[in-house]
Amino acid sequence: MNLMFISNEDRADQWRDNLTALLPDLNFYVWPDDQAVDPATIDYVLAWKPAPGIIKRFPNLKAILSLGAGIDGITCDPELPIDKPLVHLVDRSLTQGMVQFALYWVLHFHRQMGTYQKFAEARTWRQLPQAEVDACRVGILGFGELGQAVGSALAAQHFDVAGWSRSPKQIAGITSYAGAEALPGFLGRSDMLICLLPLTPETEGIIDAALLAALPRGAIVINLARGRHLVDADLLAALDSGHLSAAVLDVFYNEPLAAEHPFWAHEKVTVTPHIAALTSPRSGADSVAANIERIERGETPLNLIDLARGY
Ligand code: NAP
Ligand code: GLV
Repeated sequence: MNLMFISNEDRADQWRDNLTALLPDLNFYVWPDDQAVDPATIDYVLAWKPAPGIIKRFPNLKAILSLGAGIDGITCDPELPIDKPLVHLVDRSLTQGMVQFALYWVLHFHRQMGTYQKFAEARTWRQLPQAEVDACRVGILGFGELGQAVGSALAAQHFDVAGWSRSPKQIAGITSYAGAEALPGFLGRSDMLICLLPLTPETEGIIDAALLAALPRGAIVINLARGRHLVDADLLAALDSGHLSAAVLDVFYNEPLAAEHPFWAHEKVTVTPHIAALTSPRSGADSVAANIERIERGETPLNLIDLARGY
């Protein structure tokens, strides 16, 4: 079996070590170093944001495997071969990272840690009432693999959690809202809104002025999905008007975020550099290897993307 690794990150050696330990028959090549290899012999591409037109050079692929949960960096290739199975990464370490990051920020706001930090800077000893956790309503926009893991972790802490998805879900202790008609009701009860949607033509720009206006006054927006879900100017206007009290942004329309972007200096905005959940070559290799083994046995891979749906 031959796999071509295509990524601008520099962890190819870690992926090679982990994958070949699990799949001893795997020949692991790296683009562009190994571009002399006959492209017709490549069975798998393992990719993160490949340059447009590269994947179609490999005519005999059994599958295109994403190095991340999101596949928008692959499907944006106008020459992507759409007849090949495309698989997104579902990985325990990625999920744990996302759960930790979301929990951290929800607890930060719920326990008023920003206010206590300001008190400490002013050497002020002051106790605020501790808000009731079950009165804090968290809404998760995009209730799939990551959204459900985050929702379950928050529900275990007794937050009042709801998830919004295309299809209804049945998860104990969590309210499910499904479809466009259910969105206003979901937003109206989201004191903290966490975005974990995939980027698709339907979800691009979804966090706009109308959506933000439907949130309760004082709401907090936490975007952990893709920058293009958010209309930056609409978020800034909602923060400046006082309708929103804070935003945590891990992802941006253009990454890296330009030094002059107003998000950096805004007192209500926290910027992190797309680190909510990073793929680990160690645990990620387990998922990738398991899927390659399934395909080699003639089985359908897990976590297939439906290109017509966009995720
Ligand atoms: P997933 O399992 O495919 O879940 C996607 C969810 O979004 C599903 O619940 C789906 O509904 C819902 N959805 C999609 N389109 C919708 C629409 N038009 N209306 C309503 N709901 C819609 O994806 P995932 O693995 O959880 O990953 C989610 C995203 O997280 C990724 O695509 C990526 O952009 C982002 N991410 C970010 C980081 C980071 O470090 N910041 C790390 C990893 C992932 P159904 O359940 O009904 O299908
Ligand atoms: C990261 O953003 C991912 O999609 O895995």
